[in-house]
Amino acid sequence: MTTALITGSTAGIGAAFARRLAAGGHDLVLVARDVKRLREQATELHDRHGIEAEVLAADLAEDSGIETVAARLGDRRNPVDLLINNAGFGNKGRYLDVSMADELKMLKVHCEAVLRLTSAAAEAMRERGRGGVVNVASVAAFVPRGTYGASKAWVVQFTQGAARDLAGSGVRLMALCPGFVRTEFHERAGMGTDNIPGWMWLDADKVAATALEDLARGRSLSVPDPRYKVLMGAAKLVPRGVLGGISSRTGRKYGPQ
Ligand SMILES: NC(=O)c1ccc[n+]([C@@H]2O[C@H](COP(=O)([O-])OP(=O)(O)OC[C@H]3O[C@@H](n4cnc5c(N)ncnc54)[C@H](OP(=O)(O)O)[C@@H]3O)[C@@H](O)[C@H]2O)c1
Repeated sequence: MTTALITGSTAGIGAAFARRLAAGGHDLVLVARDVKRLREQATELHDRHGIEAEVLAADLAEDSGIETVAARLGDRRNPVDLLINNAGFGNKGRYLDVSMADELKMLKVHCEAVLRLTSAAAEAMRERGRGGVVNVASVAAFVPRGTYGASKAWVVQFTQGAARDLAGSGVRLMALCPGFVRTEFHERAGMGTDNIPGWMWLDADKVAATALEDLARGRSLSVPDPRYKVLMGAAKLVPRGVLGGISSRTGRKYGPQ
């Protein structure tokens, strides 16, 4: 029996990971801010799959929240075998439309929390000679796209670099880069999604399943859908200036009108 800790477990991609891992018989540590929702999720997963689901309420935009989760990951008596750093959010609007407080909050959740939690987990995993970390980035990591894209580019670079440094230790690290996924993400950010074509939407359960397969294959980067693999390949051929223009115009479409 192994244990997985998932941040942002109560909705969207995190909830899909929780369902998938619970169905596979893994015990879970569920992390988010909304305690009521966490408890309901833990009860449901326990009742349906017979696994143990621990609840850890933490705000990863706060030092105290990061420390709480890092302490759990470092608990040698109750080891965590798989960490999914998934919690994240979007800010509506382009550069200078977003307040500095919100920009900094994004860097705290997407970068600082990911660094500190990955490190806490990887240290304990390296001692045991096994373990895995999935850091949820985005295809936005590969296009010029303000603080969101920049924070996800950091996740990709950091994760692939750390994966290389820990090669041979038994600890696997992988950055996951989905395209648009139907979750609460866009609604929470107040972003309209009418302009996003139907074919661009991915299913969270399929994203989680592919990610776990790619981790098992030893990949350090997962782009979980052939459509986005093609798009990412094509994006490499487009000059960065043109790509930046397309990205900025798309941002305007589903940012403030
Ligand atoms: N949806 C997409 O199109 C898409 C595409 C590419 C990448 N991603 C990335 O995928 C990840 C998950 O996104 P999602 O679409 O599944 O979002 P979602 O449906 O909005 O779920 C976000 C989850 O994160 C938790 N969370 C948010 N802020 C938190 C904080 N400060 N501390 C702790 N937990 C927090 C939320 O619970 P509480 O509110 O209770 O804390 C919730 O469980 C994010 O990193 C996102 O950037 C999403």
